[in-house]
Amino acid sequence: MEILNLLELEAAAQSKMTSMAFDYYVSGADDEITLRENREAFTRLALHYRVLTGLTDRKLETTLFGQKISMPVIAAPTAFQRLAHEKGELATAVATQKAGTIMTLSTIASTSLEEVRASSPDLDLWFQVYMYKDQGLTLELLRRAEAVGVKALALTVDTPFLGRRERDIRNRFSLPDNIVLGNLMRGLNTLPTSAGSGLSAYVKEMFKLNLAFTDLEWLRNHTNLPILVKGICHPQDAIQSLEHGANGIWVSNHGGRQLDTSPATINVLPRVADAVAGAAPIILDGGVRRGTDVVKALALGANAVAIGRPILWSLAIDGEAGVTNTLELLRAEIDAALGLCGYSDLQVPRDLVG
Ligand code: FNR
Ligand code: LAC
Repeated sequence: MEILNLLELEAAAQSKMTSMAFDYYVSGADDEITLRENREAFTRLALHYRVLTGLTDRKLETTLFGQKISMPVIAAPTAFQRLAHEKGELATAVATQKAGTIMTLSTIASTSLEEVRASSPDLDLWFQVYMYKDQGLTLELLRRAEAVGVKALALTVDTPFLGRRERDIRNRFSLPDNIVLGNLMRGLNTLPTSAGSGLSAYVKEMFKLNLAFTDLEWLRNHTNLPILVKGICHPQDAIQSLEHGANGIWVSNHGGRQLDTSPATINVLPRVADAVAGAAPIILDGGVRRGTDVVKALALGANAVAIGRPILWSLAIDGEAGVTNTLELLRAEIDAALGLCGYSDLQVPRDLVG
């Protein structure tokens, strides 16, 4: 089937994957209320377009920490992309670079930082940090990220342990033998066999359970890279993150995979943006599927958005070409949405959305 928009990806990807992998990607926590709400909240917002503006051309470029990107969309970090396609993260890297945007590599990617860099020397690469209980291990990951020229870090703070994804529990989620955590050494690069989700058991055993602002300070004191704090939904947490050394705020509820019934990200964005008051760039993710969603996020205070699952589905459907197709579909939709809203660049006012 010809894919015409990002909402069509999920169904097309399902037949290309094992049900265990599909279930892992598609799941939210508990009743998946936040998962659905991330999308539905976008659909409830209207765009109050302007007319007779006399504008023709549109400019989609923007800048994040001095890095120019061709459109306000970046790739969110998602674990184990090789579950979708044999090239996994390497295919995402090529496609995001071709699209002129940023890829965020997960700590628990199925491909290492060094492999991604070797195959995409010019990629604008960010690294998502999960803090391990073993500080030495976290530090080693940080040094390796710096050594391959990562340009920013996203410290994920909404996952001291894994949300309860019931399909993963039922499936006893595990990795096939040929897929490992590419950034970790032997002994730490596989998931334990578990009575429930193997990933949940791994996270419980390995990740720092009691993350605090002092951990953000620790990271700040060990790197000069810009740090974004990923998983912010409360304005006060945004303010405190900036006070403790963050350079950017990533509004996210982990795609509805952590705390169920936490708010839709687009609904909390205006409050977070008011609190940040222009002091740092804001990324938003969660349910972004349409160009109109992107324009709404920009109007409500985001500098850019990130997409998670659409990239995974695209990989499953057609590898690198699939991801390219998705990014270009979204680019065309953003261009059309801006044009029909009556704007020629990303500086759209908040009252566009109501
Ligand atoms: C994620 N996400 C995620 N986040 C993170 O910081 N580190 C990670 O390793 C992962 N892994 C991961 C795996 C899968 C299968 C999914 C679906 C998500 C969360 C991700 O970065 C992002 O916040 C959401 O995916 C955004 O929501 P959408 O675009 O998937 O609706
Ligand atoms: C997930 C973790 C690994 O959402 O981020 O599955």
